[in-house]
Amino acid sequence: MILVTAFVSVALAAYVRATIPGLYYLSDYHVGSEFLKAFQFQAIADPTHGRVNYVNESIALAKNLTYASWDSFVMRADHTTVLNASDPGRDSVRIMSYKTYTTHVVIFDIRHMPQGCATWPAAWETGANNWPYEGEVDILEGVNDVAPNSMTLHTGPGCTMPATNRTQTGCAWTTETTDCNAFDNYNAGCGVSAPSMNSYGPAFNENGGGWYAMERTNAYIKIWFWPRNDRSVPLDVSLPIASPIIDPKLWGTPTAYFPNSTSCDLAEEFGENNIIINLTLCGDWAGAVFNSDGCPGDCVTYVDENPAAFINAYWDLASVRVYE
Ligand SMILES: *[C@@H]1O[C@H](CO)[C@@H](O)[C@H](O)[C@H]1NC(C)=O
Ligand SMILES: *[C@@H]1O[C@H](CO)[C@@H](O)[C@H](O)[C@H]1NC(C)=O
Ligand SMILES: *[C@@H]1O[C@H](CO)[C@@H](O)[C@H](O)[C@H]1NC(C)=O
Ligand SMILES: *[C@@H]1O[C@H](CO)[C@@H](O)[C@H](O)[C@H]1NC(C)=O
Ligand SMILES: *[C@@H]1O[C@H](CO)[C@@H](O)[C@H](O)[C@H]1NC(C)=O
Ligand SMILES: *[C@@H]1O[C@H](CO)[C@@H](O)[C@H](O)[C@H]1NC(C)=O
Repeated sequence: MILVTAFVSVALAAYVRATIPGLYYLSDYHVGSEFLKAFQFQAIADPTHGRVNYVNESIALAKNLTYASWDSFVMRADHTTVLNASDPGRDSVRIMSYKTYTTHVVIFDIRHMPQGCATWPAAWETGANNWPYEGEVDILEGVNDVAPNSMTLHTGPGCTMPATNRTQTGCAWTTETTDCNAFDNYNAGCGVSAPSMNSYGPAFNENGGGWYAMERTNAYIKIWFWPRNDRSVPLDVSLPIASPIIDPKLWGTPTAYFPNSTSCDLAEEFGENNIIINLTLCGDWAGAVFNSDGCPGDCVTYVDENPAAFINAYWDLASVRVYE
């Protein structure tokens, strides 16, 4: 059913594309086991030094760390194994789209995101080569269950965002963090915090999740968040079958707005990007603020000794759609 629907949607999009300019048309629609075809599992060392062991696709499926049904795709950290110090880390999953994108819209329909002390989940995009010179857009990211969500650009040198006067419902962290250059401020990037606590972690999950959408053009990058029961969610985002056409001009003020300007030429700073969904534990961010975020003891010890603490450390994705 979903496959037929997807096929009809893509076919309709191809037909309409030929007839109406100026809108975005569905190019990729991932639901359930479609994720296994469109994304590669990255059994790599965590570049952010997390207490995590990223496993490959066969191990992820065999251990049920990845599970696909007709309407959902689940990826999780192990929640049964006690680790000792010589183990590489807790098993987890990181997936990256085979396809790359430049100007596009991506919509994540998420039912549940990883939660728990030590968790550092992210849904984001970056280039496969020469980071950070192809840019990075963090759409949904945070640590240790601390809401709200952070939306952040990381770029090469020469990209700053205005501190005020941006058409967005979120707010820039501080004036220092309007500098997107990954080589400044220990790679803090230029972040915007979402205005609502249900944009991240336990409150997001209790609410049934919601939709994140990101539009990238050479004139701006916009990110929107709509909680699951938000009546303002546009129909072309919320329809349970993928709308073949979307019009982000009608979606209202974004949650985060990163404008192109003489202070940041987006076409120069961003290249071909892949979509990545990952879950690490501890590491450079979650580990560094583990206690100040209210989590007990030492992060690595906590991860090693408390498998049951990771029972809710999972993504449940209803779909990921890309429009171009
Ligand atoms: C996970 O995602 C975040 C996104 O900001 C990234 O900074 C981090 O390097 C990623 N970690 C791993 C291990 O993939
Ligand atoms: C997956 O990882 C396991 C454990 O490291 C390894 O034995 C296996 O050969 C890998 N499979 C593939 C297809 O790479
Ligand atoms: C595998 O994981 C899914 C999703 O979390 C769950 O519904 C299912 O019961 C699990 N299967 C087994 C055999 O544990
Ligand atoms: C830790 O795990 C390794 C590999 O599984 C095992 O060889 C070793 O005996 C374990 N050490 C302790 C103290 O449990
Ligand atoms: C804010 O933006 C408006 C419209 O883009 C502009 O006219 C105004 O000068 C800006 N104000 C400041 C303080 O930058
Ligand atoms: C983005 O800004 C740069 C630098 O000001 C400018 O050259 C370029 O034309 C702008 N691009 C768009 C699409 O507005």
